[in-house]
Amino acid sequence: MEIVVSGIRSTGNLHLGNYFGALQIFTKMQHENKCYFFIADLHSLTTHPTPSDLHGNIRQVLAEYLGAGLDPEIATIYLQSDIPEISELYLILNMISYIGELERTTTFKEKVRKQPDNVNAGLLTYPVLMAADIIIHKARKVPVGKDQEPHLEITRKIARRFNTIYNIEYFPEPIPYNFGHKLVKIPGLDGSGKMGKSEGNGIYLAEDPESIRKKVMRAVTDSGPTEPGQKISEPVQNLFTIMSFVSAPDTLTHFKNQYGDCTIRYGDLKKQLAEDIIKFLSPIREKILDIGSDSNYLKKVMKAGAEKSRESASKTLREVREIIGFRQF
Ligand code: TRP
Repeated sequence: MEIVVSGIRSTGNLHLGNYFGALQIFTKMQHENKCYFFIADLHSLTTHPTPSDLHGNIRQVLAEYLGAGLDPEIATIYLQSDIPEISELYLILNMISYIGELERTTTFKEKVRKQPDNVNAGLLTYPVLMAADIIIHKARKVPVGKDQEPHLEITRKIARRFNTIYNIEYFPEPIPYNFGHKLVKIPGLDGSGKMGKSEGNGIYLAEDPESIRKKVMRAVTDSGPTEPGQKISEPVQNLFTIMSFVSAPDTLTHFKNQYGDCTIRYGDLKKQLAEDIIKFLSPIREKILDIGSDSNYLKKVMKAGAEKSRESASKTLREVREIIGFRQF
């Protein structure tokens, strides 16, 4: 079985975009690969969360992982900060990562633009930590969204450089992997762009039905088609796209036909969409709430995951220390 690693940062509740872009694919992959799925809590420190926010967010993401169907009996599910080997490998990899290549990373440049008053060193070396996450398990496949491709490119560079410097074929070069799925992009409800955590344009996995209805009814549309066969505008297409994920195929066809002959009423479309989202999410939401209130279970899962993950991580770190010349006296 191939080794797969992926993580999600613990910043805020997960939404439909995270589900269709990542979690749903993880749940399928776990059966056919040796999967390591973790909560990237160290990465989330770049934004300086308060201690209580940090812990609450980690708990929530864990409940959401499990509620969405990740199975701790099958995949290894763990918290990044529970594996000190990752931090040590990160330190070692920092020595073979160059400031220039990190500064040129598109995601870093974007952060500098967006948060000029918090350009910390952790942001610069974010991709190095991500490389450590991945190669600590010698993973070959990394299911990630398109926005993470620059980071994976750096991971490959670092892995290759390590192998070259120490003249050993040790780390495999991991590739982005989507389980044969097209990279999906779930749009937000605000007319353009993708659903995001910080944009306030998303539906959360654990959101209550009333709030889902409100958000969907407020979604941006347009003034309606005036000619048969008219091209669909972006905000309306976005609603159709979300519908294609959560509704029955003939529901989508029905509204698309209505759009085509100009009889569509967006109010009806939205009502249907809201109900279909609620129906789709209801078993997931229930599981998230259930699991989230079971502290003993969460603790058990985290403990078992850390043990399994450390088994693999400590083996790699032991070998890396040997390769670079740290020898036991
Ligand atoms: N950077 C990723 C994100 O923001 C999260 C992440 C951290 C990750 N380490 C990783 C993803 C390792 C895949 C593999 O989405």
